[in-house]
Amino acid sequence: MGLVVEKISKSFGEIKVFEKLSFEVPSGKVFCIQGKSGEGKTTLLRCLNRLEQLDEGRVLIDGENILEMKENRKIGSKIGLVFQNYNLFPHLTVMENLTIMPNHLKAASKDSILNKAIELLKSLEIEDKKDMYPYQLSGGQKQRVAIARACMLNPSVLCFDEPTSALDNETSSKISSIIKNLANEGMTVIVVTHDLKFGKDIGDSIFKLENGKLLINEITKIVD
Ligand SMILES: Nc1ncnc2c1ncn2[C@@H]1O[C@H](COP(=O)(O)OP(=O)(O)O)[C@@H](O)[C@H]1O
Ligand SMILES: [Mg+2]
Repeated sequence: MGLVVEKISKSFGEIKVFEKLSFEVPSGKVFCIQGKSGEGKTTLLRCLNRLEQLDEGRVLIDGENILEMKENRKIGSKIGLVFQNYNLFPHLTVMENLTIMPNHLKAASKDSILNKAIELLKSLEIEDKKDMYPYQLSGGQKQRVAIARACMLNPSVLCFDEPTSALDNETSSKISSIIKNLANEGMTVIVVTHDLKFGKDIGDSIFKLENGKLLINEITKIVD
């Protein structure tokens, strides 16, 4: 089913960030939005994740409008966000970073939340870091922790804000393959990036956000 975004708009006072954007992403696909700094990529992801309020429009995930959902646990099972600077809690260990929110939301029993965290850390090859603090990790390791944390509630849609902006090329390509694997497992993925090369590598489709509109033609020309 995937994600259907219908005519969403967002302004901050006089600044119209985007207007009547519509797009669809089928399950298991990576939808990439490329755009210059300040074009509204982060705002778009924050709105989809209910961290900012949209002015109008609908966001359907697996047929349900997430803008009408009241329970954070339900929203978290539909959509998650990996922040650009990871936003890990600095005073918590890796394991605590993964489990604090699911425990707070009583998403499952404490044991199954713990097991889920270990399973994710294993699959991302950072299980040995589970008792470390964010400051003890490299950028790529922090990115993996952020991905694991975003997957804890099994969201149908996972959004990435500039996932490679702080990483070297080798680490970036590892993160690319992690993102592609998530999509292969059926997750619907949105990646925003200012980096066209990375976007071309990762995206099943790639759009450009410019002046509040999503353009396909122009980017297709660049990609060809
Ligand atoms: N909370 C906010 N209040 C007011 N303006 C904002 C806020 N967040 C973002 N903006 C403005 O929205 C525009 C888009 O910003 P952003 O989404 O961060 O762009 P990008 O991620 O593409 O660099 C910018 O003009 C920015 O200044
Ligand atoms: Mg941004």
